[in-house]
Amino acid sequence: MENDLFDLSGKVAVVTGGNGILGRSMCAGLAGKGAKVVILGRNKETGEEVAATIKTAGGEACFYTCDVLDKNSLVTIREDVLKKFGKIDILVNAAGGNMAGACIQPNQSFFDIDVDSVRKVMDLNYFGTLIPILVFGVVFAKQKYGNIINITSATVERPLTRVMGYSSAKAAVKNLTQYLATEFATKIGPDVRVNALTPGFFLTEQNRTLLTNPDGTLTPRGGQIIQNTPMKRMGKPEDLQGALIYLASDASRFVTGSVSVVDGGFDAYAGV
Ligand SMILES: NC(=O)c1ccc[n+]([C@@H]2O[C@H](COP(=O)([O-])OP(=O)(O)OC[C@H]3O[C@@H](n4cnc5c(N)ncnc54)[C@H](O)[C@@H]3O)[C@@H](O)[C@H]2O)c1
Repeated sequence: MENDLFDLSGKVAVVTGGNGILGRSMCAGLAGKGAKVVILGRNKETGEEVAATIKTAGGEACFYTCDVLDKNSLVTIREDVLKKFGKIDILVNAAGGNMAGACIQPNQSFFDIDVDSVRKVMDLNYFGTLIPILVFGVVFAKQKYGNIINITSATVERPLTRVMGYSSAKAAVKNLTQYLATEFATKIGPDVRVNALTPGFFLTEQNRTLLTNPDGTLTPRGGQIIQNTPMKRMGKPEDLQGALIYLASDASRFVTGSVSVVDGGFDAYAGV
């Protein structure tokens, strides 16, 4: 048995949206296994805070302000990271999310959907994954080594009601994951891997008003979710760390194009 298949010592991990609620827990998980973490996000204050927390715990981390849709700024960041660390091993595409305009409200029909908002959600989730892969994947192709982890959603396997635009965008991310797994393994080599992590329901700022009332009790939709989750709770951000570390490390060295579902059983439950 090898020493520690999950060890990430010396690895350099770039995490887009690493200052978000799930992203910061992912950063902490990677740093906990020894990775140097490069946090990319729009908000300097929260990004610096995540980096400082990792450093206080004895890890190595830095933050860059960026928009994942701005390819030129990502190229500048890539070059700076390479200067600083000499390589990049892991890319986690955690920037993403939904917006109200791309949802169908209870009093609306499909025909009320705001196309511009759907386009923005598609941009952020799909192009916000594709563009970082284009930029950082070049390094992986040169090294013939690299590990990409994209984030999809429970709404990909069976579309949830109301969140039409987000479902389409995350479904495209899953498809891209599987497409690139084949493309990279066959054309670059077996050590450039692409996998996806699928969180179930985690209470964050994006879904708080959809799932909970101002007093913290569950909305009818939040209640339905718990009812359909065999483990009877929402996820905690740290619940994602194990699956992420597995995908980012040699523990998953024969795994590419996979989707790791972390959802308390939601996807497996038939409802009866
Ligand atoms: N919360 C859940 O239940 C859940 C479930 C499934 C999937 N996800 C996905 O997990 C990921 C993280 O979500 P979260 O719940 O932590 O949300 P979050 O809003 O806390 O984190 C998203 C992060 O992405 C950043 N971001 C947004 N647009 C950006 C841009 N253009 N450039 C750079 N950064 C940008 C935000 O600033 C934020 O830091 C997202 O892809 C989300 O869709 C969340």
